[in-house]
Amino acid sequence: MELIKAQKGTQDILPGQSGNWQTVEDVMRDEAALHGFGEIRTPVFEDTRLFQRSVGETTDVVQKEMYTFNDKGGRSITLRPEGTAGVVRALLEHALYNNGLPVKMYYFTTCYRYENTQAGRLREFHQFGAELFGSNSPSTDAELIGLAKGIFDRLNIQNLRLEINSIGCPTCRAKFYDALKAYFAQYQDELCETCRGRLERNPMRILDCKSPVCSKIAAGAPKILDYLCDDCKAHFEQVQTYLNAVGIEYTVNPTIVRGLDYYTNTVFEFISNDLGAQSTLCGGGRYNGLVEEMGGQKMPALGFAMGIERLMMVMEKQKIEMPEPKRCDLFIASLGAAAHLEAFKLAAELRKSSIMAACDENDRGLKAQMKYADKIGAKYSMVLGDDELANQSAELKNMETGEKKKINLAGNFVEQFVCMQTEQGDLAF
Ligand code: HAM
Repeated sequence: MELIKAQKGTQDILPGQSGNWQTVEDVMRDEAALHGFGEIRTPVFEDTRLFQRSVGETTDVVQKEMYTFNDKGGRSITLRPEGTAGVVRALLEHALYNNGLPVKMYYFTTCYRYENTQAGRLREFHQFGAELFGSNSPSTDAELIGLAKGIFDRLNIQNLRLEINSIGCPTCRAKFYDALKAYFAQYQDELCETCRGRLERNPMRILDCKSPVCSKIAAGAPKILDYLCDDCKAHFEQVQTYLNAVGIEYTVNPTIVRGLDYYTNTVFEFISNDLGAQSTLCGGGRYNGLVEEMGGQKMPALGFAMGIERLMMVMEKQKIEMPEPKRCDLFIASLGAAAHLEAFKLAAELRKSSIMAACDENDRGLKAQMKYADKIGAKYSMVLGDDELANQSAELKNMETGEKKKINLAGNFVEQFVCMQTEQGDLAF
């Protein structure tokens, strides 16, 4: 029968890999908690309008990439293409802003985008993200950037570039849009069809188009930094003052506009040269208008998200050492039903004391059982048979050194095992 394979652009994270994911996730959780962020988990699917309104009708994500379908009740549903919209919805739905401002939340999510797949660009991918609501202080921009950087530093990731920009507020953006429209109008016939449609509605989106012709034209377009109003200019300068104060290095890149419509003011990206074409490891910025646009009160906000697959790719490329996966402490081989029952009981007892134990589950011969113990990397082994049960005595064997030690099955087994591990200098436990 034909084997059904995983869908294009999706990946399995196998037991041999998930330990590394957990290590990375633990660092993220810990760093987020240190910065005062609490975890939020939102649904995988939402009302399609949530993303149309927030991510924006003229973005690639909404125009080309969303997994949208009607459910059996006729509702238009979309698998979340990103995490921010759901978090804003939850903030408003549960009036989380009543619990004191700023509200700080982080999340791990799967995201879904129907993209042309390539290394680092998947259709289902994982993000770690953080969102902060209710402060317009430039210090929070630096704090959020510091949270992302803190994670990269703790994971020992090298050669990351932080690029920042400001894309202003609606006031300064109006003037910028006029300048962009005038500029792109000269190239109207050369722009891709999607960008021609964007020219009137949202010319800034053309700056983010992936088509080579549009990108080339966009390179000569007016720069937003020349159009910032005094307030936005001052805000951007202060963000830099705060970044400088904590020694976070960055470059100002006036071409960063980000691919989603909700951004205002500061935008930033962490870029890695170890990622090939998809070089953005983390992206984010302010979205001071979004909460209000989604039906809430006026509330400044900002956030970022990093792609966990891309992070793992960088870590692998940079050969960053990860902790060894936990190995089985004791494998109990058994011969015969009575011995198997005893092995099963001892393994259960060991696990209650957080000792990783296993026994044969396949009624195999002794040789095959020991081969299995080797395969799972068991640190110690013990054989139970009729003789051992009759004498209430067995031998524990150190699988690395071959050293053996008698153990009294009538005594406290866990205590004797721990004692032997300590004697043999096995501090892994
Ligand atoms: P984004 O730039 O669309 O921003 O995605 C953030 C990160 O997710 C990217 O930097 C990248 O690492 C990863 N990513 C994006 N698309 C893919 C893909 N197709 N395959 C693999 N990884 C991918 C957002 O999603 C915003 N919600 C970030 C944000 C939060 N802004 C404010 N708050």
